[in-house]
Amino acid sequence: MAKVLLTEDEDSLRLMTRTVLELGGHQVFAFSNGQLALDAFEEVAPDIVVSDISMPVLDGFGLLDAVRRMNTGSVVPFLFLTARSEHDDVRFARTLGVDDYLFKPYDADELLEAVRVRLERRRAIELFDSHQAHIQTIIMLANVIEARDSYTRDHVQRVQALAVELGNALFWTPEAMVILEYGSLLHDVGKVAIPETILNKPDKLTEEEFEIIRSHTLVGTKILEGISHLRGAIPYIRSHHERWDGSGYPDGLAGEDIPLEGRLMAIVDFFDALTSERSYHKNLPVGQVLEMIRVNSGKHFDPVMAEVFVSLQEAKIQKS
Ligand SMILES: [Fe+2]
Repeated sequence: MAKVLLTEDEDSLRLMTRTVLELGGHQVFAFSNGQLALDAFEEVAPDIVVSDISMPVLDGFGLLDAVRRMNTGSVVPFLFLTARSEHDDVRFARTLGVDDYLFKPYDADELLEAVRVRLERRRAIELFDSHQAHIQTIIMLANVIEARDSYTRDHVQRVQALAVELGNALFWTPEAMVILEYGSLLHDVGKVAIPETILNKPDKLTEEEFEIIRSHTLVGTKILEGISHLRGAIPYIRSHHERWDGSGYPDGLAGEDIPLEGRLMAIVDFFDALTSERSYHKNLPVGQVLEMIRVNSGKHFDPVMAEVFVSLQEAKIQKS
């Protein structure tokens, strides 16, 4: 159900339009001229405006112009109801930012369809905007983690790109791909709790220091548990250091007991870590790292995913 602000000076037409919209499941606030509609705009906070053009006091153009100047009205869909003789007016209305117009006489189905399409498009845009905002926040957080760890510069974003490629190649669902997009960015979020001296130590780590490094999977899990809309990323964070043969951490899971997200992440993380330079080693050639993945397929890595990943990267090398 949407809130429709309806403006039409002809009583019979206003009543008919209102009835159609109400039968279509919408909540209608109807007014007989543009000024009355404008006065009520803030309070109604409509999801869409449906307006006649020729009206006394304030016409449809005046209403559209005023609504577009308001903070709350700049993005509300605006649908004009117009007689065919007003064709030139429609062109003018477009320059003011009208979204669509219906020629009179219109039937019930046409009206409901036009309203539905406008509302759907608006919702899709809103969803996209909030999705973009969400991803930007996560990139910011991931960059904070990167800043502390010299080798990970650009690592998280490269790993994300590789993860998206592999997820697509494995035909993961769109829902799984959305989670992958931020899960892969956040996989090392637990590193915020690890001292920089350990993260960037050029010498061999002591067993105790290794233990601290390993804790990033569980620390990250703890951090994410408190954020309901990011909880989907937990398998990426907790399970990306598990190994197919059960020799990984933190849970020592084996084979298909390891969440798919962790198995995918293990491959792309390994690949990017070895093909890029770290504080304690030089980067290795891509071909050599792919060979290492092949050798470790069924040991460290999920054999199916490893095969798909290696073919993907080899196809890229051949293309370049
Ligand atoms: Fe990690």
